[in-house]
Amino acid sequence: MKPLRLRSRSPEETQLLGSHLGELAQQGDIFLLIGELGTGKTCLVQGIGKGLGIKEYPFSPSFVIIREYRGTLSLYHIDFYRLTHIAEINDLGLEEYLYGHGVCVVEWAEKGTSALPEENLVISLNYVPDSETERSIYLEPKGERYLELMEKLKSRLNQEKSWNWL
Ligand SMILES: Nc1ncnc2c1ncn2[C@@H]1O[C@H](COP(=O)(O)OP(=O)(O)OP(=O)(O)O)[C@@H](O)[C@H]1O
Ligand SMILES: [Mg+2]
Repeated sequence: MKPLRLRSRSPEETQLLGSHLGELAQQGDIFLLIGELGTGKTCLVQGIGKGLGIKEYPFSPSFVIIREYRGTLSLYHIDFYRLTHIAEINDLGLEEYLYGHGVCVVEWAEKGTSALPEENLVISLNYVPDSETERSIYLEPKGERYLELMEKLKSRLNQEKSWNWL
């Protein structure tokens, strides 16, 4: 399925994108975040949290791999950064979250693809050469649910303001 590509020009824009995703999210949704250190994965999660009506401010957990925030739906903020072996991921008991009552957002998801459901929304964040404040962001739906979500997101963004499409 064709990815949606846009450019974020600030952390605020990345959060705004996240808040739309949070508002559109449904129970059982899985968003996989991919991108180098500092590209804005946690920044996007903060926006998703806001969209889900969560008052706290998600941050990159240092040693905690899964953190739960309660909003209109629970946000399960999962970060695979510190994991080195797939066996460690299998030990986490992720199923409880992945097939639970909330929305799962996984940073460094590429470290554990085989432990994650095949249907998901992959969001990759990339640095833009010679720019400190821009990121290119690609959203790639895998499965009908995420295609529908992406279509809704696209029409919202089109109504809102001049997003910088790529
Ligand atoms: N357009 C942008 N979108 C998101 N963050 C941006 C942008 N421009 C600059 N930044 C800055 O980049 C940093 C992104 O940090 P963040 O913790 O979200 O990255 P991360 O991808 O979660 O990193 P890590 O892999 O260490 O968890 C923040 O300091 C933020 O202010
Ligand atoms: Mg992070």
